[in-house]
Amino acid sequence: MRIALSTGGGDAPGLNAVIRTAVLAAIYRGWDVLGIKRGYSGLLGEDEVISMTRETVRGIGHLGGTILRTTNRGSPFNYPILQADGSYSYVDRSDELIENARNLGIDAIISIGGDGSLRIAQQLVAKGMKVVCVPKTIDNDVPCTVNTFGFDTAVSTAIDAIDKLHTTAESHDRVIVLEVMGRDAGFIALHAGLAATADVILIPEIPFDIERVCEKIRARDRSGRLFSIVVVAEGAVPIGGSESIIGESLPGQAKRVGGLVEGLAREIQRRTGKETRSLILGHLQRGGQPTGYDRLLSARFGGAAVRAVEEGRWGHMLALQSPHIVTVPIDEVLRSEKRVDPMSDTVLTARETGISFGD
Ligand code: F6P
Repeated sequence: MRIALSTGGGDAPGLNAVIRTAVLAAIYRGWDVLGIKRGYSGLLGEDEVISMTRETVRGIGHLGGTILRTTNRGSPFNYPILQADGSYSYVDRSDELIENARNLGIDAIISIGGDGSLRIAQQLVAKGMKVVCVPKTIDNDVPCTVNTFGFDTAVSTAIDAIDKLHTTAESHDRVIVLEVMGRDAGFIALHAGLAATADVILIPEIPFDIERVCEKIRARDRSGRLFSIVVVAEGAVPIGGSESIIGESLPGQAKRVGGLVEGLAREIQRRTGKETRSLILGHLQRGGQPTGYDRLLSARFGGAAVRAVEEGRWGHMLALQSPHIVTVPIDEVLRSEKRVDPMSDTVLTARETGISFGD
């Protein structure tokens, strides 16, 4: 048996722990393991395919990033090709990928990625490739699994930032507006905001009214709390408005969401008269060592992925359905959407402790 691993999409803390465990679990069975560099680039002649041994994965379980590198540009089914005039055309290179995998004797692929990678896997399986997926994203927006790995680390990083902002905001009687990642989902903002006791949390699932945000800040002022912390998910939307998009994406890339905090901070200062600062936490949430929770989840996913290959669960994704790791058909995963439920206990608890959602 010869399997190959691929990491695709934005990186997330825990990727290396998945790689390490999957490689060791495969070697334990006497299998051969290859690593496809930079998503599927290694199978398209744009990068390498390397041999994965005990040596390759030694000492990486606690490291952020991915030793296989990754890319969020270009599905093999819709691959951007630069034209002489500087424009891009998009071509289907999946047959080439499958042919190259066959030539390398690859029997099955473990694809570690988010929704983009799941869609690619679904299409590859439809063409006869044997693929099993491991869900990855700091956004935690993959359906059918309680958590994706990387989420806990991102939330911990955001909590640390909010703790630090509290002390400086309080010293200066300021409002500080912090933007966190999450794309179209508000999980990072909600979990970090509640755990670190923010005063306002704005998420895409609950459109906000800036005046309600300012009312909360004024109310805190009146009660003697002269500072406020506003945590904003990058995909948050004002009532009747739309999400903020950061400039142009590169060819083959998804839209880049975010960049709304600067304008929000200006408007809060204008309406409340309070000195307001803003910052974007950005890719700090994607870097660094995975938390213990993410390391364990990643290790469990890596081991379970190899068992799923052994059982021939092609076209399935590993999922945490606590306390078990199960497999779910990718078709089922991609049929639904995972977003914050505005009636969830987390939102209700936040409201009951006085946190405003600006609605
Ligand atoms: O999906 C993970 C994520 O980190 C999002 O939260 C964020 O919008 C996006 O990726 C950023 O991607 P990039 O690496 O292209 O800046």
